[in-house]
Amino acid sequence: MRPIEINTKSAKETKKVGFNLVAALGKKPTLNKALIITLEGNLGSGKTTFIQGLAKGFGVRENVLSPTFVILKEFPLSSGNFQNFYHVDAYRLKNPEELLELGFKEKIKEKL
Ligand SMILES: Nc1ncnc2c1ncn2[C@@H]1O[C@H](COP(=O)(O)OP(=O)(O)OP(=O)(O)O)[C@@H](O)[C@H]1O
Ligand SMILES: [Mg+2]
Repeated sequence: MRPIEINTKSAKETKKVGFNLVAALGKKPTLNKALIITLEGNLGSGKTTFIQGLAKGFGVRENVLSPTFVILKEFPLSSGNFQNFYHVDAYRLKNPEELLELGFKEKIKEKL
């Protein structure tokens, strides 16, 4: 699949791309599987801004901020295909095993 390039000129536009991505995923159940979206980018490149739009699209009511001192934050969802929205700040992980210690495997196997 060819990559898609989307350029944004403001934080508002970046949020909108995240929000629209959720709609683009459609309403089909995702085969009872977790959906993992990974972001890569330099400090201040707009990752959190994008996630804020994404979270809004999934129906998270709280504002999703970069979790200071928190690696994994859970936001329960009351509607849609998924039960929870998890924000993982992988940058803060010391090693991949740390994610397993936080119960990541169990969380992605949660009943939808
Ligand atoms: N086109 C744009 N898209 C996203 N953010 C933008 C844009 N232009 C300016 N900003 C601003 O850039 C700042 C940094 O964005 P953000 O916090 O989302 O980055 P980040 O990748 O999460 O950074 P960090 O790695 O430090 O957590 C924010 O204040 C945001 O409003
Ligand atoms: Mg951030």
